Amino acid sequence: MNYESTSPKLAQSQRDKARMSTKRLSVSADEITQAATLLREGGLVAFPTETVYGLGADGTNPAAVAKIYAAKGRPTFNPLIAHVPNVDAAFSLGEFPTLARKLAMAFWPGPLTLVVPIKQNCAVCDLARAGLMSIALRVPAHTVAQALLQAAGCPIVAPSANRSGHISPTLASHVLHDLDGVIDAILMGDDATIGLESTILAVMGDHITLLRPGAITREDVVKATGHPVHLADARDGASPLSPGRLASHYAPHARLRLNATHVEAGEACLAFGDTIPEGASPALTRNLSQKSNLTEAAANLYRNLRELDALNPTGICVAPLPETGLGEAIKDRLTRAAAPNI
Ligand code: TXA
Ligand code: MG
Repeated sequence: MNYESTSPKLAQSQRDKARMSTKRLSVSADEITQAATLLREGGLVAFPTETVYGLGADGTNPAAVAKIYAAKGRPTFNPLIAHVPNVDAAFSLGEFPTLARKLAMAFWPGPLTLVVPIKQNCAVCDLARAGLMSIALRVPAHTVAQALLQAAGCPIVAPSANRSGHISPTLASHVLHDLDGVIDAILMGDDATIGLESTILAVMGDHITLLRPGAITREDVVKATGHPVHLADARDGASPLSPGRLASHYAPHARLRLNATHVEAGEACLAFGDTIPEGASPALTRNLSQKSNLTEAAANLYRNLRELDALNPTGICVAPLPETGLGEAIKDRLTRAAAPNI
């Protein structure tokens, strides 16, 4: 795929018209082509991936990328992930020495983002990379995301399709709740099956750093590469390695209380299997997984948080959850959601 050309510009009057309301597109081949055209013309299109819904723009078009930051209210120092349809397209944008290549071949397409040094003449614009000399790349497996990438023919930069700092969207309705009327279109697909954002690994030479845990676990990475996976520094909010790791992220309006054994007055409750905080009322409780299954809990987490938040409780208490495997990613998101909003 050739990523050198830049997008044609949409006439201003057409753009104004397109931005008055957000088009609901189905995931038929015709409407995916329409979505790709909108992207090539500099528009913003939300689309489903296997992790969460993304808010896409043509990564080679700085004006389009600027609109992502504005629509989300996202600080421009926080770079975006560039989505591409296959490993070869990723190799044309970033440097992939042996270890990075091994990871790409093992886990792509799939819920993994690799941060690698940029290749000279990288087609993804500076603004999308927040001026860094590295780039975050992902090859999603989702059929709609794949079809959109093929049709667009450009790298699609896409953060999660929520207002900055809010809970990531796993349903089309979540995207519309946050961004209706602000973005050009949305491909109305099914629920995002994994429900947590991709695992992010920074790969520098022989060194792997876990920047964000996700469905591809540390154990999976060690098994595939034989290399240790280092943890990013805990004070990482300020680290140049991962500018987006703000302590407060993915936050509901209600205050979260973790590892709760009982429910306090006015609190809603997130339970896990048989671990149900004492005093939980059915109307104010969601169970992440009746069967104590972490995959199911990950898929339900953001939807359940949004549902409980909509009930306007004084807070949300969360039962203790396992912290190994996918539990590491769930704990990471809950800890950020519980952090004071800054
Ligand atoms: O599953 C996902 O990854 C979803 C879907 C849409 O692909 N996307 C997503 O994007 O979660 P976003 O923007 O919400 O999170 C991307 C994270 C941010 O924390 C950002 O700081 C980090 O990736 N990032 C992007 N480029 C980076 C770079 N060059 N170095 C370090 N971190 C980077
Ligand atoms: Mg996000």
